[in-house]
Amino acid sequence: MKLKIAVLPGDGIGPEIVAQALEVTKAICKKFGHELICKEALVGACAIDAAGNPYPDETHSLCMESDAVLFGAIGSPKYDNNPSAKVRPEQGLLAMRKQLGLFANIRPVTTFPSLIHKSPLRADLVEGADFMCIRELTGGLYFGRPQGRSEDGQTAYDTCVYTVEEIERIVRLAYSYALKRRKKLTIVDKANILATSRLWREVGQKLAKEYPEVETEYLFVDNAAMQIVQWPKHFDVMVTENMFGDILTDEASVITGSLGMLPSASIGVHTSVFEPIHGSYPQAAGKDIANPLATILSAALMFEYAFGLQAEAEAIRKAVDASLAEKIVTEDIAAGGKAYKTSEVGKWITEYIGA
Ligand code: IPM
Ligand code: MG
Repeated sequence: MKLKIAVLPGDGIGPEIVAQALEVTKAICKKFGHELICKEALVGACAIDAAGNPYPDETHSLCMESDAVLFGAIGSPKYDNNPSAKVRPEQGLLAMRKQLGLFANIRPVTTFPSLIHKSPLRADLVEGADFMCIRELTGGLYFGRPQGRSEDGQTAYDTCVYTVEEIERIVRLAYSYALKRRKKLTIVDKANILATSRLWREVGQKLAKEYPEVETEYLFVDNAAMQIVQWPKHFDVMVTENMFGDILTDEASVITGSLGMLPSASIGVHTSVFEPIHGSYPQAAGKDIANPLATILSAALMFEYAFGLQAEAEAIRKAVDASLAEKIVTEDIAAGGKAYKTSEVGKWITEYIGA
């Protein structure tokens, strides 16, 4: 197969972790006989510096003409500490999600036997946890308008907006995943307070009738936040709005043992994007210490979702499992053992695949 990939390393640790995921991707293509064509483009703070725009038109064109996008991370302390900056790196990520129509962000939460002890949660709670959080990605507070400040600067506002159509398409997608898994769907909202959440629940209740084989459950987001750590094995597929999904998936990453382990796939109308759920970790940038596994596992999702190549995805996961079992890991999961460099972990996995 001919695989055309847009590579968007972004900021902070982005370039280092994407470089490793790319090496892994090349090794897989070599092993399975695929032709790989990849082109790099700018996004985030580095794109603001170079082009004054966090998601330049050339980057968008490259994404549109590619079969998949491999994305690193964006964000820079320069902007985090300057709330009055007019252009922000995160706008690049949001523009990309909106322009590519990436309405669904799929974040699988699984455990790795050799990392069970790394979770701050009790091993018996975590062992065997396996769920999928489907986060709506192009609506809600992230995109609702008006957003801004009053003229006197004393008031600020964001707007949460959802249409029936937006909710239906994501909930249907969630049902399609639930049908392929353990047939259980949890719809997370705050319907006791928010009008948008009441619409989510209304749409959920209507669709639930169309999927009688799936057990549908509704949870308020505060309760869901508690149950994720209290009883992670309770969940199979969870679907929720943009902001709740952002927060709950960072929380869910502690089940895995490190934020550096969770991959994601953003899918929708145009080219799909594969990215770790963590941010740009600027304190570690350039130090070759960041965990590349979330990005490498995102490459696995890319083979699976964008190209329908299951064996290739499995080969990556198997190599990652092997690296964990052999304790070839970065400092965040080394737990007192030897901490390997980002590039050493990537090289070990690449060689394992090639062997
Ligand atoms: C994520 C990130 C982004 C988000 C940031 C970097 C804008 O936290 O993908 O979860 O909030 O969506
Ligand atoms: Mg987040």
